[in-house]
Amino acid sequence: MSALLPRKRLEILLSSLEGFPKPSAKLEQYEVSDSVAATMAFTAAVHGDVEGLVVYDLGCGPGRLAIAAALLGAERVVAIDIDSKVLKVAERNAQQLGVYDQIEFVAQDVETLKGRADTVLMNTPFGVQQAHADRTFLRKALEIANVTYSLHKASEGGRSYITKLVSDLGGRVSFIQEMSMGLAATLRFHEKRRHVIRVDFYRIEKAEV
Ligand SMILES: C[S@@+](CC[C@H](N)C(=O)[O-])C[C@H]1O[C@@H](n2cnc3c(N)ncnc32)[C@H](O)[C@@H]1O
Repeated sequence: MSALLPRKRLEILLSSLEGFPKPSAKLEQYEVSDSVAATMAFTAAVHGDVEGLVVYDLGCGPGRLAIAAALLGAERVVAIDIDSKVLKVAERNAQQLGVYDQIEFVAQDVETLKGRADTVLMNTPFGVQQAHADRTFLRKALEIANVTYSLHKASEGGRSYITKLVSDLGGRVSFIQEMSMGLAATLRFHEKRRHVIRVDFYRIEKAEV
């Protein structure tokens, strides 16, 4: 096992990356913050779920989670997004941090994705604009991987909803960590220039694992 890149160093590297060029509200294109992305990927790595493994980033956007997994020693990363324009940004970001060769970029709807991963890292659409998008992403993650690290908007009843959904999909939640996340006000309906939201970070395993 090689020495892990420190979490703070990872966050600093991620902070140099480009974001969504023209965020689409319909696709819920808001970015994970550098700090939360670094925490998610670093936590996955500390649990032994990244180094030398195959990691998928579902709905990768500009690619922070995929790139973080590559920087933390994933053997192969697959970054999927339905928006081919944003994948170009993710490719440039990966080139900038020297991990382009470790990542396969796939323009596809997650619903139709076939694949096999050790680990999924994802910041899903919250399901506000696209009804049940979070369910589609969780279903796919549990179908293709043993372990999933997933970010969801914290809300009243949100934890029991996600925990039940995961159980119905054949998984179990092994922990939930609440974090605050700075969100750039890039989408039309955001009024403040930048605001902070509460998010829940889940680790999910397949029930039989
Ligand atoms: C909340 S953003 C997260 C982006 C990135 N993971 C991040 O955290 O910065 C959700 C992403 O999912 C993508 N997306 C939405 N619906 C999708 C679908 N059905 N299949 C694949 N990607 C989708 C959007 O284009 C967007 O980039």
